[in-house]
Amino acid sequence: MKRVSMQDVRKTDYYYEEAIKTLLTNIKFAGKDVKTILLTSCYPNEGKSDITFSLAREMAASGKRVLLLDTDMRKSTYALRFRVAESVSGLSQFLSGQIGIADLLYSTNYENLDIIFAGPSVPNPSALLGEGIFSTLMKKLREHYDYIFVDTPPLGTIIDAAIVAQKCDGAVLVVESEAVSHKVAKKVLVQIEKSGCRTLGAVLNKVDMKKDKYYSRYSGKYAAYYEKMKEDQNKN
Ligand SMILES: Nc1ncnc2c1ncn2[C@@H]1O[C@H](COP(=O)(O)OP(=O)(O)O)[C@@H](O)[C@H]1O
Ligand SMILES: [Mg+2]
Repeated sequence: MKRVSMQDVRKTDYYYEEAIKTLLTNIKFAGKDVKTILLTSCYPNEGKSDITFSLAREMAASGKRVLLLDTDMRKSTYALRFRVAESVSGLSQFLSGQIGIADLLYSTNYENLDIIFAGPSVPNPSALLGEGIFSTLMKKLREHYDYIFVDTPPLGTIIDAAIVAQKCDGAVLVVESEAVSHKVAKKVLVQIEKSGCRTLGAVLNKVDMKKDKYYSRYSGKYAAYYEKMKEDQNKN
């Protein structure tokens, strides 16, 4: 397997790291059938890729064999953000038959953490993800790893994430504080559930901790609405 060196140059704080640890614990308690976990959001830039990396890194540090799989073939960020010096190949090239699995998987400088990059952007990511070759890949990968964290494009605008969700056990919705309406978040949750993927929970990201008052009001509302959605589903 080829190897890349990734540098985490992000400025995260205590609250962020604690929130990641809590989320990780929740994922571990979701059950042993939850191995492939998708992260999505309603819009771009809500913080999916950052959270995906942090979760994957922490899970690997806890001794599990972890793969970070970037399926966002529209906006791939990892190589650039984490200062990967080599030019790397990725998923779009694999799915279109240009490279084999040996050129797809990379080990990293983080122990137990491997990565699959998205590869160069392609005009038809949904079509590529819908092919049998992607299902086969997911089946093979889940035999080799304890956890696979799957980064996706936003679900509110593009359908790729729903296609990927069909192949995942659980989904985490990343919601940027003060940026998403309940209506849109609900639409996205419904889409996730329709794909047969379990919703593990939601992360409220980019919260301005100085505006405590708003934070508690917003998250309270969100949780309430989420509970209601579950009730509605149980009725049906
Ligand atoms: N908790 C946070 N607080 C402040 N900025 C953040 C936070 N999470 C992500 N960002 C910033 O927001 C931008 C988008 O994050 P990214 O993870 O690329 O989002 P996405 O993958 O959802 O498009 C990046 O510049 C990132 O550094
Ligand atoms: Mg991203």
